[in-house]
Amino acid sequence: MNTSIETRCVQGGYRPGNGEPRQIPIVQSTTFKYDSSSEMGKLFDLEAEGYFYTRLQNPTNDHVAAKIAELEGGTAAMLTSSGQAANFFAVFNIAGCGDHVVASSAIYGGTFNLLAVTMARMGIETTFVSPRCNDAELEAAFKPNTKCVFGETIANPALAVFDIERFAQAAHAHGVPLIVDNTFPTPINCRPFEWGADIVTHSTTKYMDGHGCGVGGAVVDSGHFDWTTHAESFPGLTTPDESYHGVIYTERFGLEGAFITKATSQLMRDFGAIQSPQNAFYLNLGLESLHVRMRQHCDNGQALAEYLNGHPKISWVRYPGLPGDESYVLAQKYMPHGTCGVVSFGVAGGRAKAEEFMGNLKLAQIATHVADARTCCLHPASSTHRQMTDAELEAAGISGDLVRLSCGIEATQDLIEDVEQALAAI
Ligand SMILES: Cc1ncc(COP(=O)(O)O)c(C=O)c1O
Repeated sequence: MNTSIETRCVQGGYRPGNGEPRQIPIVQSTTFKYDSSSEMGKLFDLEAEGYFYTRLQNPTNDHVAAKIAELEGGTAAMLTSSGQAANFFAVFNIAGCGDHVVASSAIYGGTFNLLAVTMARMGIETTFVSPRCNDAELEAAFKPNTKCVFGETIANPALAVFDIERFAQAAHAHGVPLIVDNTFPTPINCRPFEWGADIVTHSTTKYMDGHGCGVGGAVVDSGHFDWTTHAESFPGLTTPDESYHGVIYTERFGLEGAFITKATSQLMRDFGAIQSPQNAFYLNLGLESLHVRMRQHCDNGQALAEYLNGHPKISWVRYPGLPGDESYVLAQKYMPHGTCGVVSFGVAGGRAKAEEFMGNLKLAQIATHVADARTCCLHPASSTHRQMTDAELEAAGISGDLVRLSCGIEATQDLIEDVEQALAAI
């Protein structure tokens, strides 16, 4: 049955049989029992489907991953222990020592560090390009050993919307896939596969969980990218894997299953960044209301951005849903029904006034987090980036007056009144 995305949020991924639990069961078991060694051996050779050890796969996780695959319109998905692990697995599944990645420079700081520092140490080089680079600059970023292009649908914290279609075309012209981190809009507001992206990742810690209760991530494959037509670039998918008795992922699992099966059977096996079944259960509870919550997050973000825009004590506002915003036109194209609940703005008077404003807030609470049901805010200059001088902050694109406010799902009027009283008192 071809259901709407709202119905998939509620019922996707798990179809109980006669007399089975209506809610996804939490399979709190590390191991699974078999009657014979030969049966278990088939699992180790990837000849049969089944579970043997939760570090690789667990039924609870698989139900929730299947729901996320349905929401994104993908063919296969896996859960990871965090968004960081999801982005690492997505890239490392196809890029190794001596390879190269093209990435948007407007991405989450943790992902930037992963690519620029940690993966560089592993011998994987990344060229960062502005999401607004011109065609010549984008073209110049590619190298013969480029294995993928990476971007974030709405960048955290820059709130720049990524031109998915344009970057997908450039990636495909070079015979490589586009990986998109779709954490901020979620599949409710944007489905990157519909615009040519090949792999989608998530920090499920954010809106998908939505209640700030479990760190997690997900990788989803569209099944669209044909690894076999670029076989020489992706030997890990198209030539025998000796650690599984010579299985060739594209041959055994097809384009729809090769990427996720390889990531599960190699990377999860060796790195072990599995999400706990208990957290996967909580994640599913979040997903059941994702479509309802996203509407309220976006309504609150939009109303707050409009309220702040032009306020005499606010020097600038950044929100992709705000007409005139640098990303407004792209937001209208890729996410016409809403973007996210995060708004960035500058408090007139700079760093000191921004700190004072934050201290005056009553409903919005200071937290190093976004995309939670409860409104939270952060003043990077005095918290995550407090070691930097104003000049260093500016070079990093973070002004001393910047406040990042993540609208929760409380009543819009209450949030605006809270901001209003906090501004009035400075
Ligand atoms: C867009 C984006 N991707 C990835 C991550 C990393 O996710 P996690 O904190 O779940 O590891 C974050 C975290 O804030 C994020 O905002």
